[in-house]
Amino acid sequence: MNYNQLGNTGVLVSEICLGTMTFGGEGGIWKQIGSLQQDAVNDLIKKAVDQGVNFIDTANAYSFGVSETLLGKSIKLLGLSRHDLVIATKVRARMGPGKNQVGGGRLQIMHQLDDSLKRLQMDHVDLYQIHGFDPITPLEETMRGLEDVVRSGKVRYIGCSNLAAWQVMKANGIADKHGWGKFISTQNYYSLAGRDLENELVPMAKDQQMAILPWSPLAGGFLSGKYTRDNKPEGDSRRLTFDFPPVNQELAYNIIEVMQTVAEEHNVSVAQIALAWVLAKPGVTSVIIGAKNTDQLLDNIAATGVKLTEEQLTKLDEVSATPKPYPQWMIDRQGNDRK
Ligand SMILES: NC(=O)c1ccc[n+]([C@@H]2O[C@H](COP(=O)([O-])OP(=O)(O)OC[C@H]3O[C@@H](n4cnc5c(N)ncnc54)[C@H](OP(=O)(O)O)[C@@H]3O)[C@@H](O)[C@H]2O)c1
Repeated sequence: MNYNQLGNTGVLVSEICLGTMTFGGEGGIWKQIGSLQQDAVNDLIKKAVDQGVNFIDTANAYSFGVSETLLGKSIKLLGLSRHDLVIATKVRARMGPGKNQVGGGRLQIMHQLDDSLKRLQMDHVDLYQIHGFDPITPLEETMRGLEDVVRSGKVRYIGCSNLAAWQVMKANGIADKHGWGKFISTQNYYSLAGRDLENELVPMAKDQQMAILPWSPLAGGFLSGKYTRDNKPEGDSRRLTFDFPPVNQELAYNIIEVMQTVAEEHNVSVAQIALAWVLAKPGVTSVIIGAKNTDQLLDNIAATGVKLTEEQLTKLDEVSATPKPYPQWMIDRQGNDRK
């Protein structure tokens, strides 16, 4: 396991981050994603930590708080030292029917963080992330709320997720103007079947020395090898009923065919090739994996040992490439004689 600097901070995180969206299965979409209960969660966390994972990502919204509760309890039951773990959680998604049980305002940040800390049985989280853009809350208010929770000692660093590059830059500009803490990380969907963030967010993160934390690196399981043009898995595989993140299936099947040949060359699973590709991408700090059992977990962590050759990376890059949107193609074109 390699460890990377979490953006421009002094914190080292494992290149694999354990995602906890499969914990709980409490209502709505969460039931379809996974419903691991305490024993299974303990098993998963113990095995991940034994393999060198020190970074765990959750959210208040995952199973409406149950994921945080299971995670917090597991850390206690396993007797893990809080000092050895970097814990990330999030705020912004809906947590109940109330008018203010959703959003990124100061009120929600304060309430939701206290609720998260109670469920996690912790006095602070290491990375507190805005789960998405809130169209009605001024970014200045969000950044002020986040600054206050950092100063209160309940949060070490702040990050964002699912924001456009201009939104991140505006938020960090506001923070800079006031001398407040800035987002040190951006958590985004990134997989061989979803490379949109390469256009704006990756260059931004590189320029700003922000950590990139890719989520759904297997496109929710679509790139795990069990979905092919001719076959779908049996049983309760998530993507059979929950079509997220959106995937251009024809393109994805072409990618999967190339992944299969590369997987045979390395004698590893197709899932490991999907993960090894994300791990090899410039700027990627820690890839957030999902697992419904320890077999999947160990398979995914083993991807850290797969080093793709230049030729394999090129083949995978080429088959997964999509036309660049404007202005990216014009920026590339004009930049050609300024390299
Ligand atoms: N910030 C955000 O908005 C956001 C959004 C989504 C996720 N996330 C974070 O990212 C984490 C990972 O997301 P994800 O769960 O969507 O990741 P993913 O890696 O794209 O999908 C994980 C799913 O793929 C299948 N799978 C995993 N490993 C496998 C293997 N080795 N072989 C076969 N199948 C395998 C399992 O589903 P089946 O067995 O059911 O097929 C598993 O639940 C989440 O836990 C969360 O922390 C963040």
